[in-house]
Amino acid sequence: MTAESIKVVFTPSGKRGDFPPGTSLLDAARRLGVDLDSVCGGRGLCGRCQILPMAGSFAKHHIESDPAHLSAFTTAESRYEARKGKLAAGRRLGCHALLQGDLVIDVPPESQVHHQVIRKEADGRHLALAPNLHLYAIKVEEPDMAHPSGDLERVTQALKREWGLDVASVHPALLGQLQPTLRAGEWFVTAAVDADGQLRALWPGLKEAIYGLAIDLGSTTLAGHLCNLGTGDVAASASLMNPQIRFGEDLMSRVSYLMMHPSEAGELTRVVREALNQLSSDAALAAGIAQEDILEVTLVANPVMHHIFLGISPVELGGAPFALATSEALRLDAAGLGLAVNPGGSVYVLPCIAGHVGADAAGMVLAEAPHESSALTLLVDVGTNAEIVLGNKHRLLACSSPTGPAFEGAEISCGQRAAPGAIERVRIDRQTLEPRFKVIGTDAWSDEPGFAAEVTGLCGSGIIEVMAEMYLAGIISPDGIVQGQLAARTARLVEQGRTWAYLLHSGEVDITITQQDVRQIQLAKAALYAGIKLLMQRLGVTSVDAIRLAGAFGSHLDVTRALAIGLIPDCPLDQIASAGNAAGTGALIALLNKDARPQIEALASTIEKLETATEPTFQTHFVEAMNFPHSADPFPNLFAHFPTPPTPQTPKPRRRKQQPRSP
Ligand code: FES
Repeated sequence: MTAESIKVVFTPSGKRGDFPPGTSLLDAARRLGVDLDSVCGGRGLCGRCQILPMAGSFAKHHIESDPAHLSAFTTAESRYEARKGKLAAGRRLGCHALLQGDLVIDVPPESQVHHQVIRKEADGRHLALAPNLHLYAIKVEEPDMAHPSGDLERVTQALKREWGLDVASVHPALLGQLQPTLRAGEWFVTAAVDADGQLRALWPGLKEAIYGLAIDLGSTTLAGHLCNLGTGDVAASASLMNPQIRFGEDLMSRVSYLMMHPSEAGELTRVVREALNQLSSDAALAAGIAQEDILEVTLVANPVMHHIFLGISPVELGGAPFALATSEALRLDAAGLGLAVNPGGSVYVLPCIAGHVGADAAGMVLAEAPHESSALTLLVDVGTNAEIVLGNKHRLLACSSPTGPAFEGAEISCGQRAAPGAIERVRIDRQTLEPRFKVIGTDAWSDEPGFAAEVTGLCGSGIIEVMAEMYLAGIISPDGIVQGQLAARTARLVEQGRTWAYLLHSGEVDITITQQDVRQIQLAKAALYAGIKLLMQRLGVTSVDAIRLAGAFGSHLDVTRALAIGLIPDCPLDQIASAGNAAGTGALIALLNKDARPQIEALASTIEKLETATEPTFQTHFVEAMNFPHSADPFPNLFAHFPTPPTPQTPKPRRRKQQPRSP
C-alpha cells in the first residue's frame, strides 16, 4: 500500500485494481466492472451496495486486508440503519465506505445485480438473475428560464450524467405522468429503464422494488409467480381455475365452440384476460404490493390458450395443417392486452414450437435444458394434447400427441379433476383382488383406522394407478379386456351388459372401472406412447437416458405404474422424475433472466417438429401400443419393480347381477 495507490480485490469476481485513497467502493466497483448493485446512485438510501470487507492475509493477492482500511462508519450508514434496521455483521454501504488501505472486498450475492437464485423445487438448480428492468434514482435539474428545456430532456440528461445511461425511447404511457411525478418528488425521482433503453416508469423519491409476474396459462389452471425483479425472490404465488372451462372442458371443445360461435371469440379473450387480472391482483395482495408495481409479465401457454389470450381465433389449430398465427416470441404492451399492471408494463410471450407444441413446451425446454446435456432426455407434458420433446445437446425433436382428456379424468366414468375426495393412489392385492386406496386430502389409506374420507371419483394419477394395478393383478388382460371369469373369485367383478367392470369402492358414489374406461386409457396411453416412439424412431434410438414428466399430472404420477401400463418407455427408475410445473418455471426463467429470451427463441427455431397426424408410422405405433404395457417393446424390467407378478386367472366365469357393497 502507498498513500497514492490502494490495492483492492473484489470477490467472487476476482476483479482487482489500484485506486487513490478516498475512492468509494461503489466507484471502484463500477470502474472495474464489478457487479455491485445500486438503485439510489450512491446516496446511502437503498442499501443495495452492501459489501463485506475481509480481514486477514491474502497471500495470493499480496494483501493484508483489514476492515479498518475503510473510512469510519458514516452518518449516512447510521441513518440507513435507523431507517432499515442493522446492516448485517461487518457489512458496509459500498457507496459510503472509502478506501484508506489495501482490501479484499466480498460482494454478497444479494448485492449483485446478476446473482444466482436458488430454485425452490427439489432439483435445487440455480436461476441466473439478469432482469430486463432496473431502477435508477436520479436528481433532475429544475426548469430554468435562462436555459429552457423540457422536463423529459432533463430526466434523460440526469440518467446519462448519473448512470451513464442512454435513453433510447420513452413509453408513451409515461408522458402524462412525467410532470406531476417530478414535482411530487421535488426533482428526486426513480426511473425504471429496460435493457433496450426504454424509460418505462417514474416514481417520486426512491422506489426500492419493482416486480414481474411469470404466468403459466393452462387450459385448466392459471398459475403465476410474482417476483421482485431486484432480488429474484418469489414474493407470492397464485393460481385460479381457467374460467374458459364453461366454453369447453378441454381445448378442442373450446376450438369447436368457436367454430360454431365465431362471434364469441372476443368473449373468450375477455374472460381469460379478466382472469389474469384477478391472478395478478391476488398475487399483489398476497405480496402486499400494488399491481402498478408489476412492470414485466412473461407468459407461457399451449397454442390454443396462447391464441385466445392474444385475441387470435384458434380455429386454424382445430384442423390440418394446424397453422399458428405466429410462432415467434412476442413483446407486447401490457395495457394493450388489457392487463391491469403498471401502464408502462410489458408482456413477453415465449415462442411456440409448432401447431400443437406451444409456448408451454418452450418453457419446459428452458426449464429442463435438455439442450445442455448429452443425456438423451424425454420431456412429456400430458394434457389433452401431450407435448413431447426428445433429444440432447446435439438435436431436439418435438411433437404433440392427441391423448384426449382421459388422463385429466374426463371420458372416464368416475373420473374427476384432482381435488379433495378424488382417489389418487390405488393398490390391489394380487391374491384376493381387494383394493386399498388413498384420497386427496387424507393421509390414511382406505383400510387404515381413521379413514373417513368422502370418495367422489378418480383423478388422473388414480386412473393410471388403478389401470396398472388391475393389469398387474390380472384383472385386465394384456389386450385390455376386463376378465369377467374372476367374478368366481371376487364380488368386485360386476357384469355390465356384455362386459365386466371392477368395483373399486362402494359408497355414496360407487367408483367402478368399466371396460369403456380401460379402452379410453388404452387409447390415451397408446397415443402418448406412439408420439414418443415416433420421436425415438426419427432419432434412431430404442431407449432414452432420462424422462421428465411435467405438469400437474406428471407431478403426482407413480412412475413405476406409469411404466407398468406402457405410458412411457423403459428407463432406469432413478432417471425418471417429475419436472413439476416446468412450463411455469420456464416463464419464471424468462422473467428473471432476459438473456434466456433470445436463447429459447433461437432454440425453438431449431427444434425439429414432427406432425403426428401426417406421419405414416404414427398409426402403426399407436396400434402396437394399445396393449398393456405395449406389445412392440417387450418391457424386461417391468416385473422387477413389483413384488408379485400377475398370475394367469382361469376360473370359470360366474355372472353377478348386483353390485356388491365394499367391505
Ligand atoms: Fe444505494 Fe449505496 S448505492 S445505499
